[in-house]
Amino acid sequence: MEWFKLAGFVICLLFLSESLTLPTNPQDADHLKTTQTFIQDNTEYITIVAFAQYVQEATFEEVEMFAKEMMALKDKCVADMALPECSGLPNDILQKSICAVEGLPQKYNFSHCCAKSDLERRGCFYLNKKADVGFLPPLPMADAEKKCQEYKQKKDLFLKKYLYEVARRNPFVFVTTLLSVATRFEDVAKTCCEEEDKASCFQTKASPVIKYLKENSAFEKTLCGASMRFGPRIITLINAAIIGQKFPKIEFKTLTSTVKHISSTDGGCCEGDAVGCIHTRSMAVNHICTNQDSISTKVKECCDKPILERGDCIVNLGRDEKPSDLSPREAKFTDSKDVCQHRDADQENFMIEFLYEYSRRHQDLSTPEILRIGEVYENLLDDCCKKENPSDCYSHAEEKFNETTEKSLKMVQHSCEQAQKLGKDGFKHECLIRFTRMAPQLSTEELTSLSQDTVKAFSVCCAQEEQFSCLDNSVDLVLGELCGVNQKRSINPAVENCCQSSFAFRRHCFYDLKSDEIYLPQSASQGLFTFHPDLCQATNEERQRRQERFLVDLVKLKPQHADVKLLSLFADFTHLVEQCCQAEGPEACFNEEGPKLEAKAQ
Ligand SMILES: *[C@@H]1O[C@H](CO)[C@@H](O)[C@H](O)[C@H]1NC(C)=O
Ligand SMILES: *[C@@H]1O[C@H](CO)[C@@H](O)[C@H](O)[C@H]1NC(C)=O
Repeated sequence: MEWFKLAGFVICLLFLSESLTLPTNPQDADHLKTTQTFIQDNTEYITIVAFAQYVQEATFEEVEMFAKEMMALKDKCVADMALPECSGLPNDILQKSICAVEGLPQKYNFSHCCAKSDLERRGCFYLNKKADVGFLPPLPMADAEKKCQEYKQKKDLFLKKYLYEVARRNPFVFVTTLLSVATRFEDVAKTCCEEEDKASCFQTKASPVIKYLKENSAFEKTLCGASMRFGPRIITLINAAIIGQKFPKIEFKTLTSTVKHISSTDGGCCEGDAVGCIHTRSMAVNHICTNQDSISTKVKECCDKPILERGDCIVNLGRDEKPSDLSPREAKFTDSKDVCQHRDADQENFMIEFLYEYSRRHQDLSTPEILRIGEVYENLLDDCCKKENPSDCYSHAEEKFNETTEKSLKMVQHSCEQAQKLGKDGFKHECLIRFTRMAPQLSTEELTSLSQDTVKAFSVCCAQEEQFSCLDNSVDLVLGELCGVNQKRSINPAVENCCQSSFAFRRHCFYDLKSDEIYLPQSASQGLFTFHPDLCQATNEERQRRQERFLVDLVKLKPQHADVKLLSLFADFTHLVEQCCQAEGPEACFNEEGPKLEAKAQ
């Protein structure tokens, strides 16, 4: 990607904030320099991402104008670094500058953030991000010819617009992911704009890019949501489980240092501190590459790549194999007499070590399952260590682990069987009804999107050999989305309870959860039964979408009806649409049939 060249600005700011931790060995220094050059070369893009994520309503013109102002600031700072506006953390300077744009805070309603200073302002901007982007139109789909014309004429503008559109719709995706998406998308444009059939080329080549964005987005949102609810410790535990499974040959010492590196970065990345996120992520990658001998031989292929490509490569690297001499179980956590003493000496590292030993031995389990085992163990010790003879008590730990896993396995098997029994459409409708019953306060858009993600997870995972870990991991990401990323949402107290009581066990909790008991539906039908003839012109896909929306809105309106009744009304609706669209005058037909359906729904 030919990023726009911009000198100075962020680099001096970074040195100011990083001057205390300047690296001592040449390899680290080299790495730091490359990272800073990257940040410096991409200042404009990074600014666009940060701005569009903080002020999602802003127009492209406003974003562009702001990026120009930041460049002017850069010039000023290059000329005189001692100026007061040139010192401070990049994110603080950026937010201060956003607040200084005339009229903007009032126009987009974030003046209350600008009234605060540094730490509190950071929190306020973060809280202000809106996960539900229903207020934005769907991503504009220019036709391929037009896209290519824009691309050829003004490559830079084309990319800036793309980045802007994606960033404002994905306010929680890490800047590193977005830059990588833009790079990938540029490759697609480069290839496809040379092709005869540009449209179909875009369609095939862009879909893995979108998949990459969606997967990373879901994971990053879940991490940030977990951190918001449970604090930084949970991030450490999640990363320990992931790395232990992925690199079972890693030494414990390296795992802890790596986990600490990665986990410390997620704070800045979640918050939207774009420069800090790039910087600390890159340092974590450097740490992995420097210590690759005690991690995995597989890492080498990534670390041989140019510095900027390493992170993505490591994330996407497949699992390493278990060391051949690894015992099936680690006895020291269940058989030793002095487990409680070890735990009390250093609780934090004790749990990380437990997760390390368990995850590297159980690559077939999902990440949430490893964490569940960790929680079961932690609770067991809390209980046992109070007893007279603790070791008698915790020597049964493994049975408890097995029980927990069996329960989770059964749950997944049962869910997959149910999905299969219901068939593709039946299962989709069931999901829509279930999600709406659980969280009727969410927007229709969001409920259909959660359902679609669930349906997708089932269709991908249930047919797989790794059915359990695949489905448990994927469904947990959907639940992460439901629980919220940057704030607790006032949905349903029962949902909130599942989101809040345990990160590891939330899937178990949701599994047993029924509908919102206290939700009061709106009494008016809000035009739900008024249909427009343009429904008949809609593409198949659009019609599907509207049907899904109808079902969700119907559940919101009539949650008291049983599923059977809702599904029968839904069947009447689809039949009605078919019938009226074939009729001589669809409008008259809709006007006549709509009220009949409404009466039936009473
Ligand atoms: C503006 O933001 C404040 C504080 O978040 C909120 O209470 C208010 O409803 C918002 N106003 C509009 C018009 O969105
Ligand atoms: C727990 O499950 C593992 C794997 O299925 C098995 O090898 C082990 O014997 C079980 N342990 C207990 C105590 O049931």
